[in-house]
Amino acid sequence: MKIAIIGSGGREHAICEKLNTSKKKLNIFCIPGNAGTSLLAKNINLDYSNFKKLYVFLNNEGINTVIVGPEEPLVNGIVDFLSSKGIKIFGPNKYASKLEGSKSFMKKICQENNIPTARYMVCKNFNHINKFLKTVSYPIVVKADGLASGKGVLICKTKNEVLNFSKKIFGGKFQSSTKLVLEEYLNGEELSYFVVVDKKSHKFVGSAQDHKKIGEGETGLNTGGMGAYSPAPILNDKLKEKIDKKIIIPTLNALKKKGFPYKGFLYAGLMICKGNPKLIEYNVRMGDPECQVILPRIKTDLMDIVNASIENRLKSLKISWSKNKCMTIVLCSKGYPVKYKKGVLIPNLLKLKHDKSFKIYHAGTKILNNEVYAIGGRVLNINNIGKNFRLIRNKILSLIHKINWKQGYYRRDIGWRIIKKK
Ligand code: AMP
Ligand code: GLY
Repeated sequence: MKIAIIGSGGREHAICEKLNTSKKKLNIFCIPGNAGTSLLAKNINLDYSNFKKLYVFLNNEGINTVIVGPEEPLVNGIVDFLSSKGIKIFGPNKYASKLEGSKSFMKKICQENNIPTARYMVCKNFNHINKFLKTVSYPIVVKADGLASGKGVLICKTKNEVLNFSKKIFGGKFQSSTKLVLEEYLNGEELSYFVVVDKKSHKFVGSAQDHKKIGEGETGLNTGGMGAYSPAPILNDKLKEKIDKKIIIPTLNALKKKGFPYKGFLYAGLMICKGNPKLIEYNVRMGDPECQVILPRIKTDLMDIVNASIENRLKSLKISWSKNKCMTIVLCSKGYPVKYKKGVLIPNLLKLKHDKSFKIYHAGTKILNNEVYAIGGRVLNINNIGKNFRLIRNKILSLIHKINWKQGYYRRDIGWRIIKKK
């Protein structure tokens, strides 16, 4: 069976690696993939945002199943386009993808269905902003409405900060946004909650906690994610029930009622406030780097999960997990997320020896003459799985030490919430 994975990050390498262990005999193509996926599958250098060209390629190769990693093609309607051509595709349709593609759409779904979330106002001009500012206390969160690769959100402590960031959004800094969402700041502990969905039901696939800031101690600029771990100890059965009942099920029912049922992975970014979940955001895909810590814990064949979702058979699928814990630390190019060099050698990476509890997922990499070069901001995800988060983190840190990449940067405090200082 031929299958294609769309995307080129650590998330897609993790998906590729998991599919590579499937009992089904799979012939995997990664479009475009990275150095890591090229060791497991066939990388295809093709611009997937051109859906017509993508379809011609899939058709010529006889690939009939597609898994989409990143949000952009989903928001642009890749699922609607390829399914209209008879390709089986795992991911939500264009309408449902607005859960991530438009913060105001997501908030409206919450409002219409009593889903707990931060109090908010959609603002199209400064009059709207001033009106909202009169009703709340600081800090206030300002969000560009459309996709912004995690950079369109700012937590503001003063009116000036709100006005300055809003001006940037209205001025077109985030191309897809002509409006913004202002919302109250929620105090609590963040939790990433993942489900897989089909037309009839949904199943929990895992929980994780991410570290979005570049600096240790959650300081500095926002990034795509500097490290994550799974499971999130804050999640218990009671909280899970509340999340499903108050957030996930009403959202999925709302989309069904509108005639656009959800399908694929759904990632709820939550704030847990005194034991109660509030929705911060939806992502219509797996997280990156959360995927890298969730998939290694799942024992069920990923191809079975994907097929069950595509064919609306999730209800009868049993998903099982390893009891082990998993963590990933992102090794990025020095200077990320602002400015960094591209084409920098990571010497001897392919010769590196490590035990089986490790996985190294590539992101911004390429291979030339058997050597790996960094070509992006987030470069490698160093993963370990085991019984204890403290030991896992120590093992990862010692492997990063061994990699000894002078132009790299990483955080040593991933998991600080759960690994207390002695
Ligand atoms: P978003 O892109 O909406 O997930 O926002 C990015 C990050 O900003 C989140 O992961 C939170 O850490 C933070 N954030 C967003 N909205 C809020 C809020 N209402 N209260 C507190 N923190 C928030
Ligand atoms: N790690 C955050 C995200 O994937 O959106």
